[in-house]
Amino acid sequence: MQIIIGSDHAGYELKKDIKRLLEKKGWLVKDAGAHSPEPVDYPDIAEIVAREVLSSEDTLGILVCGTGMGMAIAANKVPGIRAAVCTSVYAASMAREHNDANILSIGARVTDAGLAGEIVKTFLQTPFQGGRHARRVDKIKALESRFHR
Ligand code: RB5
Repeated sequence: MQIIIGSDHAGYELKKDIKRLLEKKGWLVKDAGAHSPEPVDYPDIAEIVAREVLSSEDTLGILVCGTGMGMAIAANKVPGIRAAVCTSVYAASMAREHNDANILSIGARVTDAGLAGEIVKTFLQTPFQGGRHARRVDKIKALESRFHR
């Protein structure tokens, strides 16, 4: 499993914390920026992470902005991306088990580093359940294909 992480300026510090935590646990983490706390527009980073997630089957993405919402809204414009804003460990496990989310979006101004670490670990370690959830995710894909050609 590969991980690509990105943030804007609002998520810069939390991204560093998450990256440090994951590397300590032996995960391979690619950093899409921001590489400094200078202001950067979150859709630009969301696009880089979304493209990377789509480039291989076993890549999951993590996005961090102020609320997690701008990043998720932008990433979800990319066909094939299912980005979920998670503010709890429960939401993170459901995002994987039920929604097969391939990007976790976190708000640095909403979620502290301790909780964010738990959310990230849960998201990365929870498998998609399939079954009836696969039917529903397939319907998301079908919906998407009716709007993107
Ligand atoms: C940046 O100020 C802020 O708007 C951004 O980080 C994010 O929260 C947008 O959703």
